[in-house]
Amino acid sequence: MALAEETKRIAAQFEYTDDDVNKGVHEFLRQMNEGLEHDGTSMSQIPTYVTGVPNGTEKGLYLAVDLGGTNFRVCSIHLNGDTTFNLTYSKIPIPKEMMVAEQASDLFGFLAKQIELFLRTHHEDHFEAHIRRRQTVSTPEGYRDEQIFRLGFTFSFPVRQVGINKGTLMRWTKGFDIPDAVGKDVCALLQQEIDRLHLPVKVAALVNDTVGTLMARSYTSPGKTSTLLGAIFGTGTNGAYVEKVTNIKKPVEGDYDKSTGLMVINTEWGSFDNQLNVLPNTSYDIELDKKSVNPGIQIFEKRVSGMFLGEIVRLVIVDMLKKPEISLFKDENSSHNDWKSTTTIGPESGVFQQWGIDSSIMSIAAADGTPDQSSLRQELEKQLHIYAASLEDAQAFRTVANAVGRRAARLSAVALGAVVLQSGKLQEAGDDPVDIGVDGSLVEHYPFFRDMIYEALAAVDGIGPEGAKRIRIGIAKDGSGVGAALIALVAANMERKGV
Ligand code: BG6
Ligand code: GLC
Repeated sequence: MALAEETKRIAAQFEYTDDDVNKGVHEFLRQMNEGLEHDGTSMSQIPTYVTGVPNGTEKGLYLAVDLGGTNFRVCSIHLNGDTTFNLTYSKIPIPKEMMVAEQASDLFGFLAKQIELFLRTHHEDHFEAHIRRRQTVSTPEGYRDEQIFRLGFTFSFPVRQVGINKGTLMRWTKGFDIPDAVGKDVCALLQQEIDRLHLPVKVAALVNDTVGTLMARSYTSPGKTSTLLGAIFGTGTNGAYVEKVTNIKKPVEGDYDKSTGLMVINTEWGSFDNQLNVLPNTSYDIELDKKSVNPGIQIFEKRVSGMFLGEIVRLVIVDMLKKPEISLFKDENSSHNDWKSTTTIGPESGVFQQWGIDSSIMSIAAADGTPDQSSLRQELEKQLHIYAASLEDAQAFRTVANAVGRRAARLSAVALGAVVLQSGKLQEAGDDPVDIGVDGSLVEHYPFFRDMIYEALAAVDGIGPEGAKRIRIGIAKDGSGVGAALIALVAANMERKGV
């Protein structure tokens, strides 16, 4: 079979039609509401105890730390009270061994150490004054409250929250696996390690990255429109949105400010449709899931987010390489007959290793509109040790990668479209935009990702082309740190009011 023909056949398996989008939205709404009714559902729909979004007038200096999928950031944020802020931050890639450490204290101790380094580098005066005070006062309670930094902790994993700075880890995602931490309060784990180092820091708020993104976008949102949804399309995917408290049928324990009638819900939509009622399920998706650290969960995420897309592409490519009748990356001079050695791919190539294809190469494939695919061919060689790829080879790779990327964007529209419909905002009078803040490497770097989302949104019943025009999807870059600071501020105010 000719290469082009086989590539077309495989790419067709990733088509996700308008009809599929509508079925997806329908099921997404059903699972969202199921999650608001009781616990133990596919989508966790976690109440966050955040009961309002900021309006840009908030002020003060706060610390935030952000454990995302790939990086750990420590920041201090000065909120200026006029929709602007000044951010100082340091960013450290999370060492792979910390993701699968033996003890929770290994990871949290590492995080506390980074906070200490940050304070010493960027807030030395404050830090030194603190050391001097420690020599005269023997207990942390002896310090005046305002001498202690309030810290917002962005922790981008599913947590059962029981208060604004309290929540137990439900499960790890995105390749992390430290069983010792599951079921424990992650704020207490961090505070313990902070106290061990005697840092002047109190963990005041626990925030998912989506909630942080929502808050940050709302603080800076153009035209003072309050934001409906914060979403991440990065290593993982998830969204948090503003829900009416009356729609939350399951009990919300503990204290929270009831005056707004609203609460931000962390959907954990990465686990939408774990039961596969409507999601597409190619043989490649099945294989990826089977070989992952968490088979059967995060099924939506495994079709949408950056950590997984490259792996889907890899599984397709390996499948094609194994078929002797199609000539993909073939070494015509090879006299071997095992499938690896008959290719022009170096043995060290990521093509032969699980997770060996980084999703970033898909962005290069999508962006390369040149007739000879020169930048993609260069990248195949540089990143994947695929030598002397022919034009047909590069075109086949590009077709597969684009099909996987397009399906991911259209699936993303299912989640966004369902949340917009759930809010009823498009039915409200006037033509105010429905504002959505997004962040993450995929939406930031994958060419036309947002365009493909808009195209699918326009096909959703109840939204249509006119509704899609009212939906404003804006990047809230590095937003979750700022968002965490904003929630730490809310928490500090609540503490003062004795809520
Ligand atoms: C960052 C946020 O900008 O994006 C993190 O600060 C978030 O909180 C991250 O987790 C998501 O993107 P990626 O691509 O790093 O997973
Ligand atoms: C994963 C996590 C979720 C997070 C998302 C984006 O889905 O479970 O909490 O928001 O990744 O980082």
